[in-house]
Amino acid sequence: MLGSTIRIRAKSGEAPRRPLSMAPQTALEGTLLNGTYRLDQLIGWGAAGAVYRATHMELGETFAVKVVGRSTCDLQARRLIREARTACAIEHEHIVEVYDLGQTEEGQMFIVMELLEGCDLWQLQEQGNDEESPPQPLEDAETRDIVSQLLDGLSAAHDAGVVHRDIKPENVFVSERDGRRVVKLVDFGLSKLLEAQDPELTAPGTIVGTPIYMSPEHTRSSGLIDARSDIYSTGVLMYELLSGRPPFEATRFFEVVFKHMKETPQDLGDLRPDLPREVVRVVHRALAKDPDERFQSAREMRAAWQQAWSQSSGRPEEDAPAAARPRRPRPRMSTLLAALLHV
Ligand SMILES: Nc1ncnc2c1ncn2[C@@H]1O[C@H](COP(=O)(O)OP(=O)(O)OP(=O)(O)O)[C@@H](O)[C@H]1O
Ligand SMILES: [Mg+2]
Repeated sequence: MLGSTIRIRAKSGEAPRRPLSMAPQTALEGTLLNGTYRLDQLIGWGAAGAVYRATHMELGETFAVKVVGRSTCDLQARRLIREARTACAIEHEHIVEVYDLGQTEEGQMFIVMELLEGCDLWQLQEQGNDEESPPQPLEDAETRDIVSQLLDGLSAAHDAGVVHRDIKPENVFVSERDGRRVVKLVDFGLSKLLEAQDPELTAPGTIVGTPIYMSPEHTRSSGLIDARSDIYSTGVLMYELLSGRPPFEATRFFEVVFKHMKETPQDLGDLRPDLPREVVRVVHRALAKDPDERFQSAREMRAAWQQAWSQSSGRPEEDAPAAARPRRPRPRMSTLLAALLHV
């Protein structure tokens, strides 16, 4: 049991504190989907769809419903079908449960999921404990626990032959159950089923993903990647959680891509001299350009991550002092859906 307090600030029932400019153009609050699900409140959104707290009219149960609008492209509808199929195929404590997939008479597609209470990792990092507080870094004990649970979920996905392909703080939900922090991986809309007939969601020569977290091989092609690409993206996320900023930043898409492909990230130990060297090594190994030089599985990485923290302190991590470091706010990242010609 980790000693740090569970910091989950926003409840799903509360209005999310996010840049308003990112809210969907038309909120569907009050809409009844197929006479069954009443959309009660907008609780999240991304590039593909909007997520609502919804009530099943017959059962009176609440769910999370993600809706893709009528006017959105075929690619987004296909992503939603992909998301439902994939999440259903992996039953795991750290993977969001998806119960249903539907389409309204007007052509609106939606999926029905378990309603998670809490907030995603982006919100957890960006928001202070209340409206007035500035963004706060996570404590190291929280980071250790969250990353371990994420890697558990990833191991289950990979065991089921699924690569997520869009690991980032916005897709890692930190919920609370029975007073315990439970991490859930959401948004399998870009996922890929290995070893299966799985037509690509992108045309040849195009890439889809979130550039700051994309592995070098992903930036070359969305299709030619395996589980080790998720390991790289998790490395980016770990680096960001521990240092307050991602390893590569740039305002233009191709600059970020270039950095992932060619540049060596600044030593995490320079930014966090107080971090155990072993922990720094784990993060940098996950960030290796060559997939063969990374951890070969999420399970192997999880073991190394846990061992690095335990070895370093020589005592349970919950007793270790957390170091403060500046946190650089960053905007919420949506998956880049536009087909970009790869050059
Ligand atoms: N089951 C859920 N319960 C509560 N909130 C959720 C749930 N699923 C997703 N969310 C929230 O809604 C946000 C958007 O959901 P999701 O990432 O699935 O949308 P998206 O449009 O596919 O995003 P992206 O831009 O990453 O592709 C998430 O970041 C999360 O905060
Ligand atoms: Mg998302």
